[in-house]
Order: sequence, then structure tokens, then C-alpha cells
Amino acid sequence: MTRPPTEHGPETQTEVEAETQTQTQVEAEAGAETETEVQPEPEPEPEPEPESESESDADARTHLDLSGVRLLVCVSGSVAALAVPHILLWLTGRLRLSRIRVLLTPMALRLVTKDSFRRVVGCEVMCDWDDLPLEDRSHVSVARWAQVALVLPATADLVGKLAHGIADDLVSSTLMAVSCPTVVVPSTSETTWNKPVMRRNVAQLRADGLEVVEPRTGHSLATDADEKGSMGDYLPPLIAALAHAAGRPAPVPSAAGSSAAGSSAAGSSTSASAADTASSESRRNL
Ligand SMILES: Cc1cc2nc3c(=O)[nH]c(=O)nc-3n(C[C@H](O)[C@H](O)[C@H](O)COP(=O)(O)O)c2cc1C
Repeated sequence: MTRPPTEHGPETQTEVEAETQTQTQVEAEAGAETETEVQPEPEPEPEPEPESESESDADARTHLDLSGVRLLVCVSGSVAALAVPHILLWLTGRLRLSRIRVLLTPMALRLVTKDSFRRVVGCEVMCDWDDLPLEDRSHVSVARWAQVALVLPATADLVGKLAHGIADDLVSSTLMAVSCPTVVVPSTSETTWNKPVMRRNVAQLRADGLEVVEPRTGHSLATDADEKGSMGDYLPPLIAALAHAAGRPAPVPSAAGSSAAGSSAAGSSTSASAADTASSESRRNL
């Protein structure tokens, strides 16, 4: 994986520290208030149900405060794009990611709306050159802004473009210009995934330092059968890249935690209903 530009590091660190400090202050103030009040004798709390080990593992691994990290999410025109708003909702909740920018290819825009991201997830979304804010003079500014790039889902088309340096729209041009760690999550039919050209393109991306997540078996809407081609377990490489960008030690992936996180597309917590919904969606392909 390529590394993030160094000039972004301290900024993020400072912001993360500032945020942590503010949070601590708020907590301390809340605590002080409570101390002065006369509290009635508390009812004894019922013992919480013990969580399964895999759930605890995954929870520990994914309950990180990565609020300062700038994540660029590039969405291309696979049916798995339908799951992305849910996945981002989960990421914003669980990892406290608050600085997400989403780029959509024209084909992705036919499958999901800008409002799914802007109004539901609450992040900035761009589809065309005209969507670039004035302060971002071009896609290069957006690329430089990113500390981690996530291509979710990646069509065969976009994988091919990235492998061959084709930059003919906002998404591919921006991805060509990033110098941060990039996690690519393909979603195709099994036949497409096994095509020699796809194998060559994926090998090229890996050789170029991009993290390409191996697809998993899921239900194909096109063939109405289970086949390998759905979005794989992107969470471990994504969290590792985000933690690195935040200057945090990367969480140690455990076999149980890893598969639990993967099995729900973005995590394993039973309370993460968005992730549960995203799970079933992201395991579909055409
Ligand atoms: C409903 C629908 C679902 C599609 N799903 C996929 C898919 O899962 N994977 C894929 O590689 N292409 C898929 N395609 C084809 C791509 O959308 C097509 O190759 C397009 O040119 C990709 O453009 P983009 O990479 O710029 O988003 C799908 C097309 C449609 C209409």
C-alpha cells in the first residue's frame, strides 16, 4: 500500500487529540454535575448477558475513535453500491468517522442517489467535475485531502481502469492522483472475477501497492445462485489503514473477529442494524 502524504499527519493527530480532550472535558463536567446531586440508592443492575467471544473480539477491534481521519470513498456501478450508504452509516457510528467524502461514478449514480449519502449519511458527495467545491480546485485537491481511499464496490471496469492508468471521470482521475493507502473491494460475477484479464488487472493493482480484497461467496441476482464475486472482508485492511493514518497502533486482527466482521459486511455487533442490512446487500452481485 502506498503511504499517506506526511503533511497530513500532524493535522489529523492534532485534531484527534483536540477532540479526545474535548470529549474528556465533557465527560468530566458531566461527572462533576452528577457528584453534587443527591442520588437515590441505585437499583442493582441485572448481570449483562455474556457476549460470545467472536463478538467481543470484533467489538474491541472496531470500537475505535478515528474521528479525525479523512476517508475518501469511491463508489462504482455494481449492484453492491446499494449497500454503501448502510456501510458508511455503520462506519460513522462505530469508528466515529466524521470526515468522509464520497465520489460516485456516473453508473453508480444510476444505482444510488446523492441524497443517500448527503442526507442519510451526512457526508459530502461528488459525481462530476461541477460538484467539486470551489476551494478544491480540481480532483488533485480531493486526492491530496484523502488519508485513506476505499473503492467500494469496485467494478471490473474500474479495476481495469486503475490497472491501466485510465482516468476519464472524476472517480478514476482522483484515484490516479491519490498517494494514500487504497483499499479496493471488487464486486463482480464469478465468471468475471475468474477472467484472465481480471486476474491480470488485480495482480497489477496488488503489484502497484493497492490492497485488493478477495471477493467472497454471495448470492448472485443474475444467476440466482451462490458464487464467488461479492464484496469481501474489507474491514481489517480498512481499519488498519485508518488507524495508521490516525497515528494509532493497528488493532491485532483475530481469526474470530475477522470472520465475524466480514460476515456482516462491516462488523459483527448485533446492535449494528445498519451493518446487518448492509451485510445481506453486499453479499449480492450480478
Ligand atoms: C444493475 C447493474 C448492476 C451491475 N453490477 C455490476 C457488478 O456487480 N460488477 C461489475 O463489474 N459490473 C456491474 N455492472 C456493470 C457496470 O455498471 C458497467 O460495467 C459500468 O460501465 C461500470 O462503470 P463504472 O465502473 O464507471 O461505475 C452492473 C450494471 C447494472 C446495470
